[in-house]
Amino acid sequence: MFDPQDFYFKKAKKEWYKARSIFKLEEIDKKFKLFHKKENLNILDIGCAPGSWVQYLDKITASKSKIIGLDLKATQLNLKKTYCYVQDATDIEKVKDILKTHNIEKLDIITSDMAPNTIWFKDIDSIRSLELIKSTLPLYDTFLKENWKFVIKIFMGPWFDQFVFELKKKYGWKKIKTFKPNSVRKISKEIYIVKIA
Ligand SMILES: C[S@@+](CC[C@H](N)C(=O)[O-])C[C@H]1O[C@@H](n2cnc3c(N)ncnc32)[C@H](O)[C@@H]1O
Repeated sequence: MFDPQDFYFKKAKKEWYKARSIFKLEEIDKKFKLFHKKENLNILDIGCAPGSWVQYLDKITASKSKIIGLDLKATQLNLKKTYCYVQDATDIEKVKDILKTHNIEKLDIITSDMAPNTIWFKDIDSIRSLELIKSTLPLYDTFLKENWKFVIKIFMGPWFDQFVFELKKKYGWKKIKTFKPNSVRKISKEIYIVKIA
């Protein structure tokens, strides 16, 4: 049964996180050790609102890290190393301009929890999610450093295996992993694609 105020919702509230999504990123980080706590990292977080992932990133990264968050909606947070913009992430030129204003030439990690508005027709939601992700892929090719990493949320659909196959072919067979954190709701089609270093 769908319980909007489940264990993770209550835990997020108690720990002052903006959304229960935080626990998905935390689980992904625990499993793949994405964020080296002592290194200064430049991170782009796509689809950042309401802001739990940037809260986590701001907390765990070293002091000179820079975290840039983008979303169609405003993110109301006051964090030390994080700058959030109301910005469509598919507008690649505008995103490049934002990174330039922060003197960011290369990124260490891109995290994307972006999701289209869902209509609960699973196949349509999933194809929209794929299109959204694909339209931001030029950012990955332009900005990521060597040995870089990414995390991408996607809605599982009939095309999923083919998409993962294409990513593996492009980025390395052993570098692309898929993972469904325990904190993803059981009824959800969400799954994360992770590129490790
Ligand atoms: C599940 S929420 C992200 C939650 C976030 N990771 C957190 O921890 O608070 C998905 C977000 O993707 C955003 N989104 C959808 N399309 C987008 C686009 N083209 N550009 C930027 N953000 C987008 C939505 O506005 C929504 O806020």
